[in-house]
Amino acid sequence: MEQRFTQAPGIDKKTRYAQFLQQYGALIEGERDEISVMANTAAALKEAFGFFWVGFYRVASPQELSLGPFQGSLACYRIRKGRGVCGTAWAEKRTLVVPDVDAFPGHIACSSLSRSEIVIPIIYNEEIKGVLDIDSDRLNDFDETDRKGLEETIRLMAGALYA
Ligand code: SME
Repeated sequence: MEQRFTQAPGIDKKTRYAQFLQQYGALIEGERDEISVMANTAAALKEAFGFFWVGFYRVASPQELSLGPFQGSLACYRIRKGRGVCGTAWAEKRTLVVPDVDAFPGHIACSSLSRSEIVIPIIYNEEIKGVLDIDSDRLNDFDETDRKGLEETIRLMAGALYA
């Protein structure tokens, strides 16, 4: 399998997500190992969008998320339900876009360079399996286009893994 997710510079973000999603379907087709698919998903997102930190936290117990496959610098192993951006997105079962992490009460700083963040819960049949967490070293780096594109990515991933 030789697949490249690198994109030409200068194309707008909506087109970037559309192209990404087309290729992403082929990347995850036929593989059902959660760790493997999450690992390639993090790598593909990193390659296509150059995110500062991109990775997964998986539900490890009723009260705790555990670090999963990621691309970026070292990260905290465990996050309690309701704590930080990840634990809050889990508890509230919704995407959180945080334009300034310093203004988010209880934000967990894995890297002091992180400035903004988006967290998408992975939900299948109303059951939450984990979250996709993406950090940027720039303020206010995630918008509605990111939210839609990333939620669609996770919807495809969950469908491939858990259906
Ligand atoms: N900032 C996250 C913790 C995970 S790291 O950013 C990789 C949070 O507040 O949940």
